[in-house]
Amino acid sequence: MFMGSITVLFNKSKGTINRNIYGHFSEHIGGVFYDGLWVGENSGIPNIRGFRKALAESFAKINPPVLRWPGGCFAETYDWRDGIGPREKRPRRVNWWYNNDHRVESNQVGTHEFMDFCRMTGAQPYVAANMTSVTPLHIRNWIEYCNMPAGLTTLADERAANGDAEPFGVKYWGIGNENWGGGGRMTAGECAQEYLRFMTVCESLPGEMTFVACGPNAHDVAWTRTLMGTLAAKGVRPAALSVHYYCGTAGAPQDFTEAQWYQLLHQANYMQNIVDDHRAAMDEFDPLRRTAMFVDEWGCWHRDGSGPSKGYNLFEQQSSMRDAVVAALTLNIFNNRCDVVAMANAAQLCNNLHSLYLAGGEHFVETPNYFVYDMYKTHQGARQLELVNECGAFTGGEAFREAARPLERVSASASQAADGTLTITLANTSITEAAEVSLSGLGGSLTGGAEIITLSADDPHTCNTFEAPKAVQPVSKSVRFTDGDSVSLPAASVTAVRIRR
Ligand code: AHR
Repeated sequence: MFMGSITVLFNKSKGTINRNIYGHFSEHIGGVFYDGLWVGENSGIPNIRGFRKALAESFAKINPPVLRWPGGCFAETYDWRDGIGPREKRPRRVNWWYNNDHRVESNQVGTHEFMDFCRMTGAQPYVAANMTSVTPLHIRNWIEYCNMPAGLTTLADERAANGDAEPFGVKYWGIGNENWGGGGRMTAGECAQEYLRFMTVCESLPGEMTFVACGPNAHDVAWTRTLMGTLAAKGVRPAALSVHYYCGTAGAPQDFTEAQWYQLLHQANYMQNIVDDHRAAMDEFDPLRRTAMFVDEWGCWHRDGSGPSKGYNLFEQQSSMRDAVVAALTLNIFNNRCDVVAMANAAQLCNNLHSLYLAGGEHFVETPNYFVYDMYKTHQGARQLELVNECGAFTGGEAFREAARPLERVSASASQAADGTLTITLANTSITEAAEVSLSGLGGSLTGGAEIITLSADDPHTCNTFEAPKAVQPVSKSVRFTDGDSVSLPAASVTAVRIRR
């Protein structure tokens, strides 16, 4: 048993935790939509206007602030006009991912369906627009179609005729996706130039919009510097810059060694370097930090085939307690850098990488990752509080990447909501040793009625499957917490302590 302590500093804060840090991503890839989120209105599976009811209701419970769509790489060959009008008349297309899985895009989910899913779950839409294979005018027309009031323009009237008189009011627009790779294999300078063409045309429309420029792959700081520098030379500062970072390859979710446990966690912990180093490069051109950082794809990327479809759904993977601990420590990193990270989107929502859900036919399960979002939801919009974490750290990350920071033995973050509720979230990153951690406040007290929620499994390889859908479930208990009390953290676990003060 490991003993440690964490002190919450009530008078030291980095600011408000942007709700959008708890965002998600849903791409038209593999089984994310078809037989995942979308089952169709005529399906025998309970649905709300075609969307899997159990999933929509579960998703709404975690207060999803924002959902990114339709890609990813898929976006770079997507024509939004394919996804409007009567569903039975929509074209089938060989989409971006066809060479990987030989599935065609049916376009049954298009703009109206996606907006409907956002409305039914409370998420704000974040549309990732194609910058590689269409013109700026094409994307401007999509924005006009979505956002202009009916009666003003022909495109707005077309939207109304297709069933939505009210504008969708889409605020977040991604301009391109991974343009250093699938999005046209551009250099950062070329990407900046293309961004300028698209953004200049699109921002001439009225309305509050955030255009997101394509940022780096993982730790490619040179990309960030060149892109920001090229735009700055033209007097332009993008509203937001996207950052993508995945960790993975360290064994399969249900079958990894102790060494691979730490390997993956060290990779995930590298998110600190990613965020800090890109922000430092952005600061060279944007010292007032007006360009927001959106980590709009992150998560574990394991080798294919571990999910229930056994490889049919491209990139579908299982998620064990190890993935839940990765989610918890990553969200702690974002909370503790709420002055830098304005949005983050876990990839992806269902039947894919680091998913919250696995679904197929009548089967539907919440993965351990889902419960992390549920346990962390009271951080959304709360005031982050700094911590003194005296639980020690594991080294070894430098074997993976030079300058990697030590992995905190107990990853933690804390916040206080407007109603006074204090949330402290903790991930025990040891695979073998439980911890006993005393929690106390400085400049305030942690005494109050508390709920302690713990997510753990006897075996950290445990996953929720169609056969055993509730193998990993959080356990909650109500206690009277006194400042300085200890909480018990099982090995390989995630804990949320919510104190009503
Ligand atoms: O999330 C899967 C893919 O990973 C996305 O399409 C792409 O943006 C990234 O490379």
